[in-house]
Amino acid sequence: MDMTVENGHLLWDGCDTVELAKTYGTPLYVFSQSIIEERCQELRQDFVDKYDNVRVAYASKAFSTMAMMRIIEKQGFSLEVLSDGELHTALKAGFPVEKIEINGNNKSMAELEMSIDHGVGRIIVDSLQEVDRISAIAKEKQKTVNVLFRITPEVNVNTHSFISTGQKDSKFGIPINEDILFPQVEKAINAEGINFLGFHFHVGSQLDDNSAHLGAVDIALDLVQEVKKRLDYEVSELNFGGGFGVRYTDEDIRQPFAYFLDPMMEKVLAFCEKENYPQPAVVIEPGRSIVAEAGITLHTIGAIKELPGIRKYVSIDGGMTDNIRPGLYAAKYTGVLANKADQPAAEKVTISGKICESTDILVKDIELPTVEIDDVFATFSTGAYGYSMASNYNKLLIPAVVLANKGQANVIVKRQTLDQLIENEVIPDSLK
Ligand code: LLP
Repeated sequence: MDMTVENGHLLWDGCDTVELAKTYGTPLYVFSQSIIEERCQELRQDFVDKYDNVRVAYASKAFSTMAMMRIIEKQGFSLEVLSDGELHTALKAGFPVEKIEINGNNKSMAELEMSIDHGVGRIIVDSLQEVDRISAIAKEKQKTVNVLFRITPEVNVNTHSFISTGQKDSKFGIPINEDILFPQVEKAINAEGINFLGFHFHVGSQLDDNSAHLGAVDIALDLVQEVKKRLDYEVSELNFGGGFGVRYTDEDIRQPFAYFLDPMMEKVLAFCEKENYPQPAVVIEPGRSIVAEAGITLHTIGAIKELPGIRKYVSIDGGMTDNIRPGLYAAKYTGVLANKADQPAAEKVTISGKICESTDILVKDIELPTVEIDDVFATFSTGAYGYSMASNYNKLLIPAVVLANKGQANVIVKRQTLDQLIENEVIPDSLK
């Protein structure tokens, strides 16, 4: 993986990671603001500035913190949220509410009310009960809500089955079925308090092949044509989700955004031209591809155990609580000893976490310089779905997050404290 080394130490966006580990303690998430901004710049160049009437809505589930919302806002992007918690984070960060869109296959009434009260830009309907609910709330509050329908495009996706979402048998989306979808669309078009904009899909995540996206665009455009034919209604917006893959290890490919977006846009533009259809706005929702490679995690090495002829276990002071992806998706990562970043590999080890769980293995069989206690291990590409999926299992603390930017480092999330772990707990009188 690409890295900068100075005096044997790994630098991250100009900051000495060994110093960061010393100053802020480990485990520590470190994000490079410059890399996040570079990815946004690529998106602007390959999409926003290249095509008319297109938008990027960062999928905040990948990494949702107030500082991140500020970065995204400064890029002029919109924001996708999935829960009251993600919405709250965005609002507290001062994110313009009209640029927020909310997804979710089971939004609660409270989440819908909160979204409508604040005036979110779009609600993406993902259940058969939602149109009625939104219409009722909107009517009561005398508001009009922009709505898209998330459809299940029924494409099979070449990624881990746990993160593919567009196949027929999925909890996500409204099935493209005569008797289910069209009555709902008709209802949304006619419902009071609802402005029906169009369709949304998200085929899956961590893709390095554009075929699923392209297949889904075809399906969405067929649907657009069908809606015109049956209901004489022209949609004004299509949302193609996220899913663009990143590099976790040297084996992964990160395709340029244009690899996905150019042929997708070509299909949309060709359709509009052929059908004489007004070009709908096109929105994408990248999460991982904006933040994954910008983040690293620093851990300190403690216990070292050699099983002769089997393997050498090197244990870190965190694990699946700060990165559940290896345990959950068999995700592969790589890393370096941040304090020996200029030394050649000398041994093969397995990096294990400290959680009471056999699947708590961060990296299996990695070549590193001779590993010693107190070395700092830096895992690459942990920026997406690391902090956001962190847990307090075994009552470990959620680590701090530092934002590095050209040699300057700022804490953007403080490390949890032991008292915070129990602050919501109550001992009933009978047990006192
Ligand atoms: N839009 C929708 C509606 C989504 O469901 C997702 C991800 C995204 C956008 C962003 O996708 P991205 O560009 O990040 O691939 N925890 C899993 C990933 C789950 C993604 C779920 N939806 C992981 O760690 O791989």
